[in-house]
Amino acid sequence: MSKTFIHVLVENEVGIIQLNRPKALNALNRKMVDEIVEQMEAFDADNSIRVIVLKGNERAFAAGADIEEMMEETPLTLEVLDPFAVWDRLSLIKKPTIAAVNGFALGGGFELALHCDLIIAARDAKFGFPEVKLGVLPGAGGTQFLTKAMGRRKALEWIWLGESMTAQEAEKYGVVNRVVEAELVEEEAMRLATRLAKQAPISLRLIKESVYKAEDLPIVDGKMLERKNFYLAFASEDQTEGMRAFKEKRPPTFKGE
Ligand code: CAA
Repeated sequence: MSKTFIHVLVENEVGIIQLNRPKALNALNRKMVDEIVEQMEAFDADNSIRVIVLKGNERAFAAGADIEEMMEETPLTLEVLDPFAVWDRLSLIKKPTIAAVNGFALGGGFELALHCDLIIAARDAKFGFPEVKLGVLPGAGGTQFLTKAMGRRKALEWIWLGESMTAQEAEKYGVVNRVVEAELVEEEAMRLATRLAKQAPISLRLIKESVYKAEDLPIVDGKMLERKNFYLAFASEDQTEGMRAFKEKRPPTFKGE
């Protein structure tokens, strides 16, 4: 597939996707979302990649779904096309994903960041769901992700008012992991990605599944899943290597096997 709206790079086992529609502040049209999803899946299936980083540019991570593309839709065209269904595939990515956010992360852009496991934000980044001002609402998971992150009352306030939240506010409510100076966002995301790339990949994968299930499952069922994943980890060579390295007082080398 030729990539029209993204750049793809690989650095030290980190797969990097840069959104590349700068004139429209990386507004997400359908082709762009397809490209992002397909590249995320390609990295997920690639054994030489351990972590995936998604970034925009200085001005915008992404300023939302492409309003121009959307404005002539009808309920029936939307029902038939089901443009948000493809986003569900982002929730199936097994490797750690990090969003490096500079500038605007609005509407679908915020939802894209929220589909990532971790978010590094520039001090002057702006997060928000302005859909209410367009007479609609978030459609790619925003109401769900934000409610899980900050609780019902705060989520309602933000999404009802459609105001942007600062990176500091987003951090305060647990919506982003770290806030750094704008020029350090990518460096910080890569630093974190490189650290994660050294961890045991199968552990990371089983931890990701267990933590996400904690949001949905009753604790008894979540503990059961965690326990099974713990037992499953003992099928990996990395478990043998990790414990042997501890005994031999040396750093482990994990292969993801
Ligand atoms: N869709 C299409 N084009 C967009 C866009 C979007 N979401 N956001 C910005 N653009 C375009 C602008 O139309 C403009 O294009 P032209 O130069 O051709 O006029 C260009 O990007 C630059 O934008 P501005 O001139 O508006 O830049 P600004 O600095 O004055 O304002 C902004 C920046 C506050 C982000 C403003 O662009 C804005 O409000 N954008 C729309 C944000 C929005 O409503 N997002 C939600 C979309 S709906 C959605 O995402 C649904 C969902 O849940 C999936």
